[in-house]
Amino acid sequence: MKQGKISCQQDLRVLLWWHHFYLLWSTIGAQTHYSIPEELKQGSVVGNIAKDLGLLVPELHRRKLRITSEAGKQYFNVDLGKGELLVTDRIDREELCGQRLSCLLPLELVIDNPLQVHRVEIEIQDTNDHSPSFHTKEKVVKIAELVNPGARFPLESANDPDVGSNSVRTYIINKNEHFKLTIKTLKDGRKIPELVLEKPLDREMQAVHKLVLTAVDGGDPVRSGTSEITVIVLDNNDNAPQFEKQVYEANVSERATSGTEILQVKATDADEGLNGEIEYVFAEQTPDLILALFDINQSTGTIIVKGVLDHESNSLHRFDITAKDKGNPEMDGHCSVEIKISDINDNNPEIVVTSLTTPVPEDSAIGTVIAIISTRDPDSGDNGKVTLTVSPKSPFKLNPSISKHYSLVTNGPLDRETNGQYSVKLTATDSGKPPLKSEKTIVVELLDVNDNPPLFSQRSYAVYVKENNAPGIILCSVSASDLDSGENAKISYSILDSKVQDVSVSSYVYINSDNGSIYSMHSFDYEKLKVFQIQVQAKDQGSPPLSSNATVHVFILDQNDNAPAVIYPSSAALGSLSHQRMPRSAKAGHLVTKVTAVDADSGHNAWISYRLAEATDVSLFTVNQYTGEVRTKRSVSEQDDSSQRLLIEIKDDGEPVQSATATVSILLEDALHEPILDLRHKVSEPSRKTGRITLYLILSLASVSVLSLVTFLILAVKCIRTSRGSGSCCMRRSDCDDYKNPNRNLQIQLNTDGPIKYVEVLGGDMMSQSQSFRSCMSPMSEYSDFTLIKPSSTTDFKEVISVLDASLPDSTWTFERTLHSRK
Ligand SMILES: *[C@@H]1O[C@H](CO)[C@@H](O)[C@H](O)[C@H]1NC(C)=O
Ligand SMILES: *[C@@H]1O[C@H](CO)[C@@H](O)[C@H](O)[C@H]1NC(C)=O
Ligand SMILES: *[C@@H]1O[C@H](CO)[C@@H](O)[C@H](O)[C@H]1NC(C)=O
Ligand SMILES: *[C@@H]1O[C@H](CO)[C@@H](O)[C@H](O)[C@H]1NC(C)=O
Repeated sequence: MKQGKISCQQDLRVLLWWHHFYLLWSTIGAQTHYSIPEELKQGSVVGNIAKDLGLLVPELHRRKLRITSEAGKQYFNVDLGKGELLVTDRIDREELCGQRLSCLLPLELVIDNPLQVHRVEIEIQDTNDHSPSFHTKEKVVKIAELVNPGARFPLESANDPDVGSNSVRTYIINKNEHFKLTIKTLKDGRKIPELVLEKPLDREMQAVHKLVLTAVDGGDPVRSGTSEITVIVLDNNDNAPQFEKQVYEANVSERATSGTEILQVKATDADEGLNGEIEYVFAEQTPDLILALFDINQSTGTIIVKGVLDHESNSLHRFDITAKDKGNPEMDGHCSVEIKISDINDNNPEIVVTSLTTPVPEDSAIGTVIAIISTRDPDSGDNGKVTLTVSPKSPFKLNPSISKHYSLVTNGPLDRETNGQYSVKLTATDSGKPPLKSEKTIVVELLDVNDNPPLFSQRSYAVYVKENNAPGIILCSVSASDLDSGENAKISYSILDSKVQDVSVSSYVYINSDNGSIYSMHSFDYEKLKVFQIQVQAKDQGSPPLSSNATVHVFILDQNDNAPAVIYPSSAALGSLSHQRMPRSAKAGHLVTKVTAVDADSGHNAWISYRLAEATDVSLFTVNQYTGEVRTKRSVSEQDDSSQRLLIEIKDDGEPVQSATATVSILLEDALHEPILDLRHKVSEPSRKTGRITLYLILSLASVSVLSLVTFLILAVKCIRTSRGSGSCCMRRSDCDDYKNPNRNLQIQLNTDGPIKYVEVLGGDMMSQSQSFRSCMSPMSEYSDFTLIKPSSTTDFKEVISVLDASLPDSTWTFERTLHSRK
């Protein structure tokens, strides 16, 4: 531009100059023309101006030749000595004339004397003194890699100040694969180089292309200039990330904890920048399960455990991973991942009781199926191989059936009474290393079977009851127990029927069937019943029921509930009189009468003693304490009152003492006539043993009368029948005075008009009274003092008497008839 401006000013100047020149020319004359190349050295001679103007050299000085210039710089000077036009300054054509093809420098030479103006024209010729040059030495051209061939990219044109052929003639580019150069010529003739893409670019193959553009001028010698062109291929996201492997495989233990790294996938992307920046993600439509279990590091591609792995629920996980770049549009690549979860023995075997029969009857046969059991272990291989065992001491065993199933059967006898229920411990063990085990206890209840009878606490019971008990008291309680349970152990008590004195035992006692208490149903009388037995049965309510028996012995204890009863002298009412006669001639010791009393009780309660309580004359009579015999103490004198009265008290030895009284009236008579019947004999027969009393004598007494005999027989029969416990059948023998003296009295007391109620044989000692009970109970006992008569209708009464006589050798027999009717 600077040059352009200069040239413009120069044009203007040239025009002005031409105008003046024309005026001058018209007045002055001719014009001189020189031509010189530009860039001459200073002092170079352009031409001999003096000669060309037709002037003489000395004249020059004198006429003051000088060069005038309207404007601008003076490039020339005149050597006045030689008359030569010299170059005084560097002349640059490009500076003076720019791109004009002809470049003329006009000069005016003025001389005086006369004033003359000569015009000189100097043409400046161009020389190739400039090389083409580019404004920018290094140019960067950015081309997208996907641009199609044929695309043009204008380049900067070079500049050459020279003109004409010395200016830029053409451009060339270094040889390369992708580009060529075309030159476009504008209307003004300027040439513009253009880069044309010949072959597609691939940034991934070559990202940068270096080219050299050369501009060449047409001078001689040729001059050129270069510019370096850098073609940068702009990346296009034309490469998808590529995984190194299609399928990645890994094993991971199911015990791997969250955060454990499993494997790393790796993809590469040939693109650059964001187009090559890879991000790893799970493929779309990855199941949530996988997302819950695994995680992937987006930047590294490392897959890590996130959730809880479980071989049992899933032993293999397959999923896809996508690698994405960040270009636009983004591209992605895919791979598959297979993760095997290796098994760990992490599951305890499980015992499942499929069915259980309980309770089981205790009499179940061996081999009865109690339960069906199966085992489970979700682990695989040996870790899931389960063996099931049962505790060895239980009466059960396991029979394996179809796979992993077992039946639990009985293996021995069961007894509910020793073991009401069994806890059967089952142990399942797998074959892992280490093995895992689990246990389960099943409770097998036993069902009772009525296999135990009730058992009484005692086999027999003894009960002692006082007589005269209140009816309804509890005699005793029996109890039985039963090892069974429920109804099988529910006991009811009963009394087995039997007879007591011809009466069913159930009329004596009854039993509370629930608790075994035995009650009396009425008051017992020892005098009637001394002992009896009850069979008690305890029965359970099983089906069939079982029972057992026990015996209860009831002993009735005597009580002193009977007062002595006076048999003789009898009295219709208490204290009634009975008159005894005795001769006044009686000596001391004469037996007046004998008071007889009995006591229905036994033992001490029946031990009777007599005492004289009152007497008209105490000095005359005495009463034997034991026998009740009333005898005279002394001889009766004339002064003694003929009527004597005695009150005799009779007591037993019971507690409390019971007593009775008897009043005896005695008439002293001067002449005593024969008693009605005196059977007193001297019995001389010594051969019989003194210890034996033969009650056959009784029969002799029966001879009183035939009527009496009959009555007696009836009595005897009755005696035999009621012999047990009937005191009235006891035959008592006693000595008269002296225990050592075997002097015996047989007394038979008869009703005057009725059957014999009481026969007493006195003999033996007093102590034998205590045995009288037993004698009564067992009349046939060998040492008995008493014998019963078995009367028969054929018996001759006299014979009986004789037998009696013979059997009682030295006794005095007294037969007395009384009116006694009381017991
Ligand atoms: C995984 O384990 C199996 C069996 O244990 C083995 O065959 C396989 O080679 C393992 N794979 C890898 C990737 O370790
Ligand atoms: C991914 O891995 C890198 C390198 O180990 C780590 O710096 C980065 O925190 C990880 N990213 C995640 C989300 O865990
Ligand atoms: C049996 O039951 C009766 C009536 O309930 C009762 O009086 C008696 O005492 C009981 N006996 C026992 C041994 O419990
Ligand atoms: C109990 O006594 C009854 C009657 O005497 C008899 O039938 C039964 O067999 C006895 N029971 C036992 C267990 O002895």
